[in-house]
Amino acid sequence: MSNYIVKPDLAVTFAGIKSPNPFWLASAPPTNTGEQIMRAFDAGWGGAVWKTMGAQVTNTSSRYSSINWNGQRMMGFSNIELISDRPLDINLRELAEVKKRYPKQALIASLMVESTREAWHTVVQQAEDAGADGLELNFGCPHGMSERGMGSAVGQVPEYTEMITAWVKEKATTPVIVKLTPNISDIRVIAQAAKRGGADALAAINTINSITGIDLDTFIPQPNVDGRSTHGGYSGPAVKPIALNMVQQVMSDPESMLPISGIGGVATWKDAAEYILLGSGTVQVCTAVMHYGYRIVEDMIDGLQNWMCEKGFQSIEDFRGLSLPKVTEWKDLNLNYKVVAHIDEAKCIGCGLCYTACWDGAHQCIHVDRVSGPIDGPVELHLKPSEIEAASRNTITVTPIPKLDAASVTTPSYATPLARIPRVDETECVGCNLCSLVCPVDDCITMVEVKTHLPSETWEERTAECLTGKSC
Ligand SMILES: Cc1cc2nc3c(=O)[nH]c(=O)nc-3n(C[C@H](O)[C@H](O)[C@H](O)COP(=O)(O)O)c2cc1C
Ligand code: SF4
Ligand code: SF4
Repeated sequence: MSNYIVKPDLAVTFAGIKSPNPFWLASAPPTNTGEQIMRAFDAGWGGAVWKTMGAQVTNTSSRYSSINWNGQRMMGFSNIELISDRPLDINLRELAEVKKRYPKQALIASLMVESTREAWHTVVQQAEDAGADGLELNFGCPHGMSERGMGSAVGQVPEYTEMITAWVKEKATTPVIVKLTPNISDIRVIAQAAKRGGADALAAINTINSITGIDLDTFIPQPNVDGRSTHGGYSGPAVKPIALNMVQQVMSDPESMLPISGIGGVATWKDAAEYILLGSGTVQVCTAVMHYGYRIVEDMIDGLQNWMCEKGFQSIEDFRGLSLPKVTEWKDLNLNYKVVAHIDEAKCIGCGLCYTACWDGAHQCIHVDRVSGPIDGPVELHLKPSEIEAASRNTITVTPIPKLDAASVTTPSYATPLARIPRVDETECVGCNLCSLVCPVDDCITMVEVKTHLPSETWEERTAECLTGKSC
């Protein structure tokens, strides 16, 4: 018997562009020069979107700032950088060289020029002559360029988006990807406009308008440019949930749906898998590479392949979009589905976080009121739940802090004294998840389904019953 295991194939064809894997570098500092991109391809990246080329710019010093959160550096990253400040002809000469040396990797030219048909036709021709596999239109840069009528000044107006996409399509012979700005109330409106303009694909998201913080001694917001600052573009892990939602919105709308490259906070294979499950054909990465370097792609490739093996997926297409039907509108959720919090007493360290969270931030149904007794035997209480509730109603002005120490009783099989282990009053628990989110011990609080024995019923159905005169 052979031990040879066929690894799943990560190769993708995105809007006609072939790439050995779905991991692309986003248009940003890691794709500033040909030398960088070649190192990245050697590390394993399947594609790269060149740092946006076109209009002439000068960048500021300084230009980045970040949010650190609980030991995680650069949880959110903000930049006030503009597009490439290198001459267009040098960028294009290097692009041609990279394409020649790395024919199998996807090499995309990100473009931004003044909003005239001639300027766009010229730059499209130049990028394609240099050998770009596709063009990404940067309609998303949120600072500087937008003040000059480019970037998000285009991407925030459906008419401009459609018009410029159509100009590009008049000239382009390679696939055209429109990169969307998240700085808009409904991203679908712009995606629809890009589609009407003839875009072959979309990329989402560019960075989110932000001010990361203010120096409390100088009162200058970050990043400081000679005593002043401006709003920057936010990226990194903090933006992933926003970006995932936007990708889902675009991909669930037939009017806007196109092949999409998911961007925002991708740092691991898991992040990539989530974007692909919501329909992305490729993912693009910037901040994580700025933080950890090109070699993170090695773990991304291995991790994704291992997970695909485990799930029985042979190709990216096998699972692309599988989560889309599972996202619905709130009105279509089953109101008769019920979960309650379950505390694993053997894992609990008695920190009390769930108790405080439930009392102050949820539904006051976690109690710390046991005195003794075997952990899996009947619960012995100071008071019955109804007595606690009645007493609480009359007396509590601040969150009750149980007097634990006097009552603490150690049991032979548990490290935490029984009196410190909270219990959930399941009849009152609304299953909001808060306690399981604050609990510092993995899998200590799990949410367990409780059979209500009621048929599935959505808000839509319930209100329809009201309208037809049935009880509600
Ligand atoms: C410093 C910096 C410069 C960027 N420059 C560009 C650019 O020139 N063109 C562009 O389309 N996007 C640019 N972006 C946005 C990224 O391509 C990407 O859309 C965004 O950072 C979100 O991805 P991330 O969370 O992986 O960083 C830039 C981002 C950063 C952080
Ligand atoms: S799920 Fe919500 S309501 Fe239920 S115990 Fe936890 S915090 Fe309280
Ligand atoms: S938060 Fe978790 S560990 Fe802390 S008391 Fe609650 S169940 Fe125990």
